[in-house]
Amino acid sequence: MTPSRHATRRSSSEGGRSRELALILAGRTWLGGKIRSIEIGIDEEGTIRAIGRSLRGAPRHDVGESFLLPSATDLHVHFRDPGRESDVEDFATGTLQAALGGLGLVADMPNTRPRVDTLDRLRAKEARAQGRALVDVLLYAAATPRASLDALARRAGAFKLYLSPTTDVDEVPTGADLDRLLARVAATNLPLSVHAEDPARFHQEIEPANPPDWNRVRPVDAERTAVDALLRGPSGLRLHVAHVTDATIAGRLRNEGASFEATPHHLLLSERSGDGAKFKVNPPLRSERRRRALWEAFVRGEIPCLASDHAPHSSEEKQRPFPLAPSGMPNVETMLPLLLARVRAGDLPLPILLAAACDRPARWIGQPRGRIALGHRADLLVVDFRVRRTIAARNLHAPCGWTAFEGWEGIFPREHYLRGRRIVEGGEFVGGHGGIIVRPEFAPTRAPPQPRPIAE
Ligand code: DOR
Ligand code: ZN
Repeated sequence: MTPSRHATRRSSSEGGRSRELALILAGRTWLGGKIRSIEIGIDEEGTIRAIGRSLRGAPRHDVGESFLLPSATDLHVHFRDPGRESDVEDFATGTLQAALGGLGLVADMPNTRPRVDTLDRLRAKEARAQGRALVDVLLYAAATPRASLDALARRAGAFKLYLSPTTDVDEVPTGADLDRLLARVAATNLPLSVHAEDPARFHQEIEPANPPDWNRVRPVDAERTAVDALLRGPSGLRLHVAHVTDATIAGRLRNEGASFEATPHHLLLSERSGDGAKFKVNPPLRSERRRRALWEAFVRGEIPCLASDHAPHSSEEKQRPFPLAPSGMPNVETMLPLLLARVRAGDLPLPILLAAACDRPARWIGQPRGRIALGHRADLLVVDFRVRRTIAARNLHAPCGWTAFEGWEGIFPREHYLRGRRIVEGGEFVGGHGGIIVRPEFAPTRAPPQPRPIAE
């Protein structure tokens, strides 16, 4: 059921203006520390206007025993748009996977071809996203010493800085150049996500043949020194460290009040000598001991954000000899389903997942979404925890055609509402090109260290 234009009764008023509800969703959710039955009233614009036990005044859709959860925000995707002919993703294919995987907003990285480091390139990328995106998109601009950051900051959603070479990144700032760059980014007041690995700590002399070798080439030490350099930066910086792989580094960032993320692959996968280049990522998969410590920190709610680092490469590219194969794996469709399956298995509390996947990422980029709260965007999922699916690349929508999570269990949203409009029904995409490009709408907050309730 989609919102009707004919709702008549007024259900709530705000700022002297009456708001008519267009749709009421009824189901169960996690609210105020426990599972409750609730009804969510959504207006014509797709904003949550009423939350109660029994609402009236609009068509009502009851999801029964299923859960109503906020859509997630993914702070880290690479949709390769614009890109090369051989690139296996664009805004249409990437946002389709996001919609099916329960993400209402994805933040796209600037290491495309060309790199997004000028206003013209940013505008060109906006033009590509407009009309193609099926969910909302935020665009990062590259923070480089030569970029005109003030101009970019007026249009971009956030900045991204690479401290080490990776896919389509060769040059990285160090020393005084880095300090100056961080000060310039802080002055723009836009959030900054950083790929924090220090190449001075890489062991380039090792010829890698498998993921454990790759872990030796780019060790945790490289992450630690890069994070140290960032934490010496200006205090006004709205810092977020991408893909943290180690629990002690996570603890340090938490103590300093910085935001950061962990990816599903670093939380769920560790280095195995029998694995090939499909398991090659930057930063590398770590030892099982380190992975478990990171997972335990996540379960305790000590990792503010979950992000996919969805970085697809074709099977052909991944079949190159290990040292030459590109780093990265797809995950935008599977991130939330994998973690919802951990909730169902009893390994992960639901409110901890919702805080990390929905609430805190949205706060960091100043977006009023990610919680079932008045005034928030009605980007909502219907999740039936009883229905599990075995993940198989042939049933996913990634054009690269493979997943590192083949055979894992996932719980995929049955329905997805974007601004109150249903875009997924029965696990199938039924929406349109309704995604918009968003920027911070309020001063982004630093990530609160403790999980917060998902509704107020
Ligand atoms: O594994 C990765 N792949 N890490 C990155 O930092 C970049 C990404 C990509 O763009 O392929
Ligand atoms: Zn990335």
